[in-house]
Amino acid sequence: MTSGEKQGSTGQKVWYLTTPIYYPSDNLHIGHAYTTVAADALARFHRLKGEPVWFVTGTDEHGQKIAQKAQEAGKTPKEFVDGIVSFIRDPLWKTLGISYDRFIRTTDPDHAQVVQNVFEQLLAQGDIYKGTYEGWYCLPDETFWTESKLVDGKCPDCGRPVERVQQDSYFFKMSRYQDRMIEYILSHPDFIQPTSRRNEMLSFLESGLEDLSISRTGMSWGIPVPHDPEHVIYVWFDALVNYLTAAGYLEDPDKFARTWPPNVQLVGKEIVRFHTIIWPIILMALNLPLPERVFGHGWLLIGDTKMSKSRGNAVDPIALTKKYGVDAVRYYLLREVPFGADGSYTEDALRLRINVDLANDLGNLLSRTTAMINRFAQGQIPEPHPSPKEIDRSLAKLAAEIFDEVDKAMQQLLISDALTQIYRLIHAANKYIEDRAPWNLAKDPAQKEDLDNVLYNLAETLRIVSVLLTPFLIETPQKIRQQLGLTHPVVSYQEAIFGQLQGGERINRGDPLFPRLELYSEPEEDKEAGRVVSASPSVTGVSAQDSHNAPEQVNEITIEEFQKIDLRVGTIRHAEVVPNADRLLKLTVFDGLRERTIVSGIRAHYNPEQLIGQQVVLVANLKPVKLRGILSEGMLLAGSDNGQLSLVAPVVKLPEGARVK
Ligand code: MSP
Repeated sequence: MTSGEKQGSTGQKVWYLTTPIYYPSDNLHIGHAYTTVAADALARFHRLKGEPVWFVTGTDEHGQKIAQKAQEAGKTPKEFVDGIVSFIRDPLWKTLGISYDRFIRTTDPDHAQVVQNVFEQLLAQGDIYKGTYEGWYCLPDETFWTESKLVDGKCPDCGRPVERVQQDSYFFKMSRYQDRMIEYILSHPDFIQPTSRRNEMLSFLESGLEDLSISRTGMSWGIPVPHDPEHVIYVWFDALVNYLTAAGYLEDPDKFARTWPPNVQLVGKEIVRFHTIIWPIILMALNLPLPERVFGHGWLLIGDTKMSKSRGNAVDPIALTKKYGVDAVRYYLLREVPFGADGSYTEDALRLRINVDLANDLGNLLSRTTAMINRFAQGQIPEPHPSPKEIDRSLAKLAAEIFDEVDKAMQQLLISDALTQIYRLIHAANKYIEDRAPWNLAKDPAQKEDLDNVLYNLAETLRIVSVLLTPFLIETPQKIRQQLGLTHPVVSYQEAIFGQLQGGERINRGDPLFPRLELYSEPEEDKEAGRVVSASPSVTGVSAQDSHNAPEQVNEITIEEFQKIDLRVGTIRHAEVVPNADRLLKLTVFDGLRERTIVSGIRAHYNPEQLIGQQVVLVANLKPVKLRGILSEGMLLAGSDNGQLSLVAPVVKLPEGARVK
């Protein structure tokens, strides 16, 4: 059965998506929020496409670790988790705009019932048996380990000490399913994603699967084993079954028929093993279909280490949201790291995303477009005229392409790629303004139709951008629409098709979408890279010299002195971000004679793609310096005002190498 065929008695297909359920033992940090924000974007995307969605998240509340923490806090386990769980729902998930359909708690009564029923069924069919467990237990991970799997006597996953456990236990006969599991993974190439994790799991399985201890004695914080209350069910067995409970298994057969199996289960990479070996074997034993995909995403790192409370490097999502707004935080999480890979978090990188992508590329596009509509069309979006001009169809054509590309990327869970596609449209619209120069068209009444079309195309592109951004951002799409004079919120992905704006809508120019931020000061070496004439070393900062309000300090030079500076026109042929130096771009500039490399601190103002083909003025006889290990042979001229930086270029194109004097 494929998801496309999932039909219940009501005939309504449901797109079922889960995130792991969280331990309410620690404060959750942006690493945790990462999984859930990504899942939320996917859920919102599918809703926008008109599919009923069942998006589940929640809390994993049992286990020895929680019981211990509760004791330390002088509370009963239930009192302890109640407080934290309520915080997770509100303010945490509420602030981040997490639109879950069910928040499941493993302490919910329906869940205990389902877990006990599953246990009884597997016991009755011989997949669970009673024996004695002798081995090791990693408390922080709540994981059993046999002697042979330990690394230097420690937990092979987290490297922390393990404790010896010897007790009566129920076992889940995983070994019986080893071959079927290998066969399944091999015959379902999409089941475990990305592929690297699939290969890891295959080699884990091939090294031999042991039966799993699934009950503990000597503790009471858990779901009791039916008819043997000395034992509580192992926290991972209990937790994995949450996905069944949340889908209505045994309790609501009609809903279960519409929902099961999940289309996507998102998990962090360290719990892929639980979700692609133990979990599917539980389902096989119950004779239920397996999830279509389990996607193991990477970690948010601080430097080289995983962000985590115990390492003391956790970043608080609520504080971050208060400082930068929910959309900046969501955008950063979704865009910065390709989904699946690890990525380092830095606040500077977040600020850079806000400046470049949100304030500059998107914010300026809206502000320029609405300003021009005010100025050249009396504040009303003009009606389009039939136009033979190919260039006027360029945005419509690109929008159609992006409509498909975003859809394709989201189907493949390439969330960051989907945003990159949307930004292709935003960049193209910014370039279209430069190419069509509406301020010139406005000078000639004969060009009025042309001008109308340009303004319409820009407003329509922004409307489409507001639709495309709807799954990712919470407030911004509506803000864009308000400024465009559109009143209804986005309800369908089909609204991202070009040509739906009528014309005649009245613009409401408002505040900038995102405020531009100062970047933090940089190490000495990077300051060099901020060398753009008259811009401050901190690249986006406004120095005393570049503000027109600053007192002028006249420092006269002779013409001979000026002539020592060899200024030339060049063309940027290639541009890329310098790795680990987020505000630097490495540019290849053709100066008429040769290509030279120039490292420039303009990343906060320009995206690499935007610069290719751009003419610039460079200081050609500047002594080369090494920046971040790259030999920089020159410097670009730029002006800045109020944090806004603009490269200096000839008004009319000149041949490369032309002298500027
Ligand atoms: N309770 C288990 C999951 C049971 S699912 C049946 C658990 N909880 S957790 O709170 O420790 O982690 C929840 C999710 O947050 C996991 O997917 C985990 O990978 C993710 N993250 C926790 N720290 C993370 C980062 N630093 N970066 C990215 N995700 C990380 O595991």
